[in-house]
Amino acid sequence: MADRPTSSTSTVRSLALIAVVVVALVAAFAYTAGWLSPGRLTPVKIVNALAPPGGAALGFRRNHAKGICFTGSFESNGAAASVSSAPMLAAGAYPVTGRFNLATPDPKAVDATVRVRGLSLRIVAPVGSEWRTAMISAPFFPVATPQAFYGLLKASANKSDPDAMKQFVAAHPEVAHFGAWAGSAPWTASYAQERYNSLNSFIFTNASGEQHAVRWSFVPAAQPEPVPHDQLQARDPDFLAADIAKRVHDAPQRWTLVVTIANPGDPTADPSQAWPEDRRKVEAGTLVVSTIEPEADGPCRDLNFDPTVLPPGMHVSDDPFPAARSAAYAVSFDRRTAEDKDYPRHPAGGSTP
Ligand code: HEM
Repeated sequence: MADRPTSSTSTVRSLALIAVVVVALVAAFAYTAGWLSPGRLTPVKIVNALAPPGGAALGFRRNHAKGICFTGSFESNGAAASVSSAPMLAAGAYPVTGRFNLATPDPKAVDATVRVRGLSLRIVAPVGSEWRTAMISAPFFPVATPQAFYGLLKASANKSDPDAMKQFVAAHPEVAHFGAWAGSAPWTASYAQERYNSLNSFIFTNASGEQHAVRWSFVPAAQPEPVPHDQLQARDPDFLAADIAKRVHDAPQRWTLVVTIANPGDPTADPSQAWPEDRRKVEAGTLVVSTIEPEADGPCRDLNFDPTVLPPGMHVSDDPFPAARSAAYAVSFDRRTAEDKDYPRHPAGGSTP
């Protein structure tokens, strides 16, 4: 029979075990924080890079900081049940909490200065599953990868090197494509007249287990009315919130959910490349925005529209953005909720309808 360890040997072993666990934990934290690989892109680095020159607006989202909440419903016609078994794509009406927003880290930005507008949705099915999606009005993303998005943020903030942006664009020609869209696409005077696009690709699985790569868009019922940009600049800095509050007060506003199905070989991992227009499309139902709610203390304030929160029947694809976005949105969410005391109850940004 082997000797039983003395109590002092057993204490040393226990301490050694504790030390190993502590070192492993520290190493795991250091790895996660990026200390072991300073060149690696982390969500903290990308969120820090979003901050404007004067620093982030405390208590607010680190991007798309200006917006307004709403509630409504998604009225599914059941047509997309052939491509996805997601409960909210079966015929029926499902409650929605959402947010119209502007792609800027500045909650006080003047509406006419922000080219890209956003729509964020949380659609809830009775069984408890949710579909969260945050889309933008641009038809494609300015860059092909999360690393390039970080590079774009750094290059555009680098005022000490006038060539930084030129060099970045030369190495990433898709940015010029985006610039051409931004410079030529008509502006509208209303969130209600915008089409909002997922840009990222996802996988839909139907009840038979068949899979399709998809993107989706919410297409407005309101006809887009182009407005010259200089006329928008002459309007109130917060005209978008006032406009959507008035429209929804007068009548619910509607968008059709259009699911676009990829052909084999379509670029699913690169949101800077739009798919050809002739791809199969399914009109899945109608988003009905029935009540505008204030942003300050409104129902969307403490929501994280993380694009990886998906119901059964929907999954992420090989597109690297949703995972990168999920990690960055969590950092932003943690920061802004921890800064609650800094969040003005009635911000000057005019977010109250
Ligand atoms: C790596 C790329 C991206 C990064 C790092 C990023 C970062 C962020 C961050 C930090 C927020 C604030 C989240 C919060 O506090 O809840 C945000 C919000 C948002 N982003 Fe992104 N984003 C990226 C790509 C995209 C793309 C591809 C789209 C659209 C297709 C998009 C659309 C939006 C929208 C609509 C919001 C507002 C969400 C809300 O209302 O809470 N973003 N983004």
